[in-house]
Amino acid sequence: MNRRKFVLNTFLTSIGGLVGINYLKGNNPIGEHLKSSVNGGIMLDNPTIISTWKFGIEANAAAYEILSKGGNALDAVEAGVRVPEADLNNTSVGRAGYPDRDGKVTLDACIMDKDGNAGSVAFIQHIAHPISVARAVMEKTPHVMLVGDGALQFALENGFKKEELLTDNAKKAWEEWKKKNNYTPPVGPNNHDTIGMLAIDKAGNISGACTTSGLAFKMHGRVGDSPIIGAGMYADNNVGGAAATGLGEAVIKIAGSFLVVEAMRNGKTPQEACEMAVHRIIEKQKNYKDIQVGFIAINKNGERGAYSLVKGFQYAFHQKGENKVYDSDYHLKE
Ligand code: GLY
Repeated sequence: MNRRKFVLNTFLTSIGGLVGINYLKGNNPIGEHLKSSVNGGIMLDNPTIISTWKFGIEANAAAYEILSKGGNALDAVEAGVRVPEADLNNTSVGRAGYPDRDGKVTLDACIMDKDGNAGSVAFIQHIAHPISVARAVMEKTPHVMLVGDGALQFALENGFKKEELLTDNAKKAWEEWKKKNNYTPPVGPNNHDTIGMLAIDKAGNISGACTTSGLAFKMHGRVGDSPIIGAGMYADNNVGGAAATGLGEAVIKIAGSFLVVEAMRNGKTPQEACEMAVHRIIEKQKNYKDIQVGFIAINKNGERGAYSLVKGFQYAFHQKGENKVYDSDYHLKE
């Protein structure tokens, strides 16, 4: 090898090493297009979608409709979670959600794109699709989060329709609850089935969305984890994304979805990262046996993870054209 070739080879080897080390450390000094070839495993041309609960299957199908035609992950997650938001049989998300203990339906949602932009609304009333308001906050304002009357005002100024969201069914459930519950908000494991969704598009970019009516019969004004970036959902285009369901208070206290994404950044698989977050809740929260929390995650290779505190958590996963519901593994085995 002549001196010129030797110098060139040494230079290329050092650059390769630097890139590899930095990538593993989560510092990414290289462009998106190079990153995929260096990493060698980033999912290109293979849309992947994960969402919480069994009803995620219809949401995934709507998201895939967009991704299969080359649409982007942001449009996909918004369209996906709008399905349960519109579903009159879904009592934990969107227009047919159960109300708070004063009979008011108040909704929370957040969204995040491949560039780390984020939008969120919390404690919003009278708007059936809070996820689309969250997206408008992200795209049309200098802010990340709008709440309550301010969020409603912004929605109306931007063409969203004001509606009465309390369905007859939800009203009946609330009236039954009032008879037996002495105005005490519940924290049990079975009344907060949020939808969180992460999607990777054909270009290999990730986005996430999360939307809920929150804890049924909660105190008026209560906000859960779902609209809080890093708690209910987090996505980082260099790493992957995560979303949470279950008792929001428990998730907020450990910054759950951010914790999962950071664990993946530091080398954990999505499954290991979800398990670690659930174990953090167990470590930190004395009442963990009486609540439910579940996490889902995907990394940029399209690998998935899911884990919950107690039995019963399910998630929907769409990859290579197949859309299926899976039972999540869980901690509290009998
Ligand atoms: N995870 C939904 C909520 O607690 O509001």
